[in-house]
Amino acid sequence: MAVRVIEVDPFDLIVFGATGDLAHRKLLPALYHRDLDGQIPDDARVIACSRRPMSDGEYRAFAREAVCEHVSDVEETALTRFLDRLRYLSVDAAGGDGWPDLTALLAGREGVVRAFYLAVSPDFFGSICARIGSEGLATDLSRIVIEKPIGKDGASARALNAAIGQVFREDQIFRIDHYLGKETVQNLMALRFANALFEPLWNAAHIDHVQITVAESLGVEGRAGYYDTAGAMRDMVQNHILQLLCLVAMEPPESMSADSVRDEKLKVLKALTPIGADLAPTRTVRGQYRAGASSGGAVRGYLEELDDPSSDTETFVAIKAEIANWRWAGVPFYLRTGKRLAARVSEIVVQFRPIPHSIFGEDVGHVDPNRLVIRLQPDEGVRMQVMIKDPGPGGMRLRQVPLDMSFAAAFKVRNPDAYERLLMDVIRGNQTLFMRRDEVEAAWAWVDPILEAWAAHKEPPKGYTSGTWGPSAAIALIERDRRTWFEDLI
Ligand code: BG6
Repeated sequence: MAVRVIEVDPFDLIVFGATGDLAHRKLLPALYHRDLDGQIPDDARVIACSRRPMSDGEYRAFAREAVCEHVSDVEETALTRFLDRLRYLSVDAAGGDGWPDLTALLAGREGVVRAFYLAVSPDFFGSICARIGSEGLATDLSRIVIEKPIGKDGASARALNAAIGQVFREDQIFRIDHYLGKETVQNLMALRFANALFEPLWNAAHIDHVQITVAESLGVEGRAGYYDTAGAMRDMVQNHILQLLCLVAMEPPESMSADSVRDEKLKVLKALTPIGADLAPTRTVRGQYRAGASSGGAVRGYLEELDDPSSDTETFVAIKAEIANWRWAGVPFYLRTGKRLAARVSEIVVQFRPIPHSIFGEDVGHVDPNRLVIRLQPDEGVRMQVMIKDPGPGGMRLRQVPLDMSFAAAFKVRNPDAYERLLMDVIRGNQTLFMRRDEVEAAWAWVDPILEAWAAHKEPPKGYTSGTWGPSAAIALIERDRRTWFEDLI
């Protein structure tokens, strides 16, 4: 099947932190792919900035290595063309060095889209923005791209947003949540709003509960320094998980325009029932992985990896969330995420209510309620569990079977990485898949009281063995409601 590609306008993409991990793993491979597919016009440049002194040639060697490591079947001609676009400047984000060179390189290009991508620690967001402003580099066609974490709580997020807002208008600010760029996450909107089938059933009258699981089998890898200051709540729940919840729960937006979609997501965030010190002990679970096994090998516990036995940072969170509005009153949303779990899998499970009355006798088997399983990764697809009659003579016997649609099997195209879509949306100026300021702050407004309750209770996170599904308290959290985690995950 042919993939539709629309060339974007000419641009200068200025990447701060261009020698870092994000550029290596995600940005350079994504840009190469977009160039390969003909989406990047001839008159587009990528200006890589970082403190380290390097020549253009040395940076191109770094970029070549990045693309070759992360892309299979690299096409040499396309790669050479892509590398030719790259320029490198040694710029001190915090100090003054290198800024005149950047100004000189951008001079005369005020009429093309100018996107500043801050692939650096959030500590530098404010100072880089101020510098872009004072150097007069923020043109009308400029955009700024920032990655999470946007703050470590509501107050710091507001301060950061205000600092960026001094230089850039809200319609120029692109706050990335890379989950929104994932194909299957966008498919959630297609599933809900391009099919008449689901929407009439998408409410408390027909849905018993929803489960959102984002499980990782990896540990914190080389990011323990950052991770220990964040934990799973700030790293995953405040952004990725709440964004998924919003897409499942929001009202149909009037269009796909950025503000229509973001207005609806904001309403969901504001309708989340607050979890403060009174509810936190029964509605939330924090865990921390201990030594165990992952992918067949023995792995160390979080504290040993960190080399700090005193850390009480959580690597796992489970929450029973509720949305206080007409559509969702009484429907729990069970959320869980963690590192070093039994598998890498992200899934949304929509559990429908049982049929109101069975016409079948007890001997036909149990009539299981329908369940819609949206698999975000890996093996992206949608599965609907339905009841059918067991084939063959011998009377009526019922059985649950999946109506299965694997996207990989249905579409023989490469599944693009989230950053490919998001980077091109930045150039196009399409903010639908980016978080608006008020959304980020509303998400913190729900998360902050939970973090405060945990801090006040001073209870250490519950240990769980690496390679399992988290602490037993997470199982108890859902089983208290006579439900179970959907564990047909592998
Ligand atoms: C990042 C988190 O935002 O998302 C990481 O900081 C996490 O801790 C990652 O591993 C998960 O992303 P993905 O795309 O691999 O599911």
